[in-house]
Amino acid sequence: MANQARSSAARRRRRRPTEGPSNPLALGLRFPFILTTSAGRQTQSRATPALVVKRLLFLTGNLGKLAEAQHYFAPLGYRVEQFLLNGKPPEVFEPQADSLRIVANAKISQARKLLAESSEEGAILVDDSGLFIDSLNGFPGVSSASVHSQIGCLGILDLMEGREERGAEFRTYAILWDGEEFVGEGICRGRIIAEERGENGFGYDPIFIPDDLGELSSEGRSSEGGSSDSGTSDMLTSGGRTFAELETAEKNAFSHRRKALEAVLNRLR
Ligand code: IMP
Repeated sequence: MANQARSSAARRRRRRPTEGPSNPLALGLRFPFILTTSAGRQTQSRATPALVVKRLLFLTGNLGKLAEAQHYFAPLGYRVEQFLLNGKPPEVFEPQADSLRIVANAKISQARKLLAESSEEGAILVDDSGLFIDSLNGFPGVSSASVHSQIGCLGILDLMEGREERGAEFRTYAILWDGEEFVGEGICRGRIIAEERGENGFGYDPIFIPDDLGELSSEGRSSEGGSSDSGTSDMLTSGGRTFAELETAEKNAFSHRRKALEAVLNRLR
């Protein structure tokens, strides 16, 4: 059993450096980049004359989202900064809509206009996300932010009291603009537990446990974090921990946002 677990871990370690968008070389065709080693050191290649880190301005007031995007993009040669004007995230209008896509499109249009009017330079990133609970017909969904500020996780737990069906998913719709728009979507299936657990993360993280990911796919391989403790296969499991009990790297291995950002980067390549 221990040998099996060790050889699974060794297989995962071998796969990571060369596969998926975590390989910065894969992104170099479009952007100049700084090579980043797996230990996080930056090395400059003599063969590449103009080495710069690509600046991504993330239009969000949510520092949890910002931290996740920074964690995901940093090893890929992107520096994610919060998009600020006069030291504050600019106010943007979010339309009442029944889809994350419509809201994300509204955000990117406004962000592009604000960038054009400012002295800032860089690519722009926006995302719109939400928690969709099966037994509540997708509630709170596109209203996740306002519902969270009104009733919080405890309000959701009240609504879920006595319900056996606990399935839910986080969804993210992300758009990166860099002269043209690149779109990506991500979903993370999981379940709502009966109490809040954990101190990390934000929003509904304390009440959500992500489903195990089966045979490690590109999703699991291309991110740091997560764990395999089944001892029988390349299973990625949170070990029954909520998102709020995981470190950012571990959450990113499962996360809807990381998947959406990865899809965006796949289109950039
Ligand atoms: P928006 O994308 O700014 O509209 O916000 C969506 C809301 O959904 C956030 O304010 C959170 O309450 C919730 N949410 C989105 N993504 C996550 C996540 O990764 N963990 C926990 N809650 C999230």
